[in-house]
Amino acid sequence: MDALCAGYGRSQVLFDLSVAMPQSGAVAVLGRNSAGKTTLLKTLAGEITPMSGSITFDGRAATTDPPERRARNGIGYVPQEHAIFARMTVRENLLLGATGRQGRGAIDEVLDFFPKLGVRLGQTAATLSGGERKMLAMGRALLGRPRLLMLDEPTEGVWIGVIEEIAERLTELAGRMCVVLVEQHVELALRVASYAYVIDRGTIALQGPAATIRDSPDLLRFLAP
Ligand SMILES: Nc1ncnc2c1ncn2[C@@H]1O[C@H](COP(=O)(O)OP(=O)(O)OP(=O)(O)O)[C@@H](O)[C@H]1O
Ligand SMILES: [Mg+2]
Repeated sequence: MDALCAGYGRSQVLFDLSVAMPQSGAVAVLGRNSAGKTTLLKTLAGEITPMSGSITFDGRAATTDPPERRARNGIGYVPQEHAIFARMTVRENLLLGATGRQGRGAIDEVLDFFPKLGVRLGQTAATLSGGERKMLAMGRALLGRPRLLMLDEPTEGVWIGVIEEIAERLTELAGRMCVVLVEQHVELALRVASYAYVIDRGTIALQGPAATIRDSPDLLRFLAP
C-alpha cells in the first residue's frame, strides 16, 4: 500500500503511509496507543476508505474493494474488538467462518491447531477465557483460507501462560502465509516477526528487519507514552 492517507470523517489519522507485505513471514506493526495501528489494519481490510493513496494485493488494485471482496481474495482480518459472536457457541462461530464447501474437515483442522477450542465447542463464546476467545477469532479467520492474515492485538487480555502458546501458533502460521501482527508485547512481536514497522502519530517512524528494530536506540522513544 502506497502513500496512504486515512482517518475518520475530517480527522486524519494516517499520513502518507507506505507499507509492503511479503508472501510469507510475520510483519510486526508497533506503536504507542492511538498511533494509528488499528486504523491501518481497518484500511487494509477495507473498513475505512482511504482519503488518498492506493492498496495493491497480488498485483491487483484493491483500494476500492469492499471488505467482503478482500476477504474472498485472501485477506483475513481479526479485529481488536468484537471479533466473535459472544452469544453463539464456539461451534456456531466456527461454522460462520467456514465457507459453503468446507465441512467438518476444515473445522477439525482448526481444532487440531487450537486444541483448547475442541473441548469448548458447545459453550457460548461469552464464557470463554481471553486466550480462548482470541484463538476462536483466529480459528474463524483461518477458515477463510487467508494468504494475508491481519491480527490486531492477538494477546491482549490473554493470561501470560497462554501468550506463549499463541506466539507459537503465530510462528507456525507465518511459515505458510503473511501474518501482520499489531502487538503491545514488543518483545514477542519482534521475536515472531521478521520485519517491523513502528508507527508514530500516523507516520512510519522506523522500519526494518525485526532484529535491527529490536536493537534500535530509537525504538523506546517511539513506544514511550
Ligand atoms: N471511529 C473513530 N472515529 C474517530 N476517531 C477515531 C476512531 N477510531 C479511532 N480514532 C482515532 O484515531 C486515532 C488512532 O486510533 P487507532 O485505533 O488506530 O490507534 P491504535 O494505534 O490502534 O491504538 P491502541 O494501541 O490504543 O489500539 C486515535 O486518536 C483515535 O482516537
Ligand atoms: Mg488499536
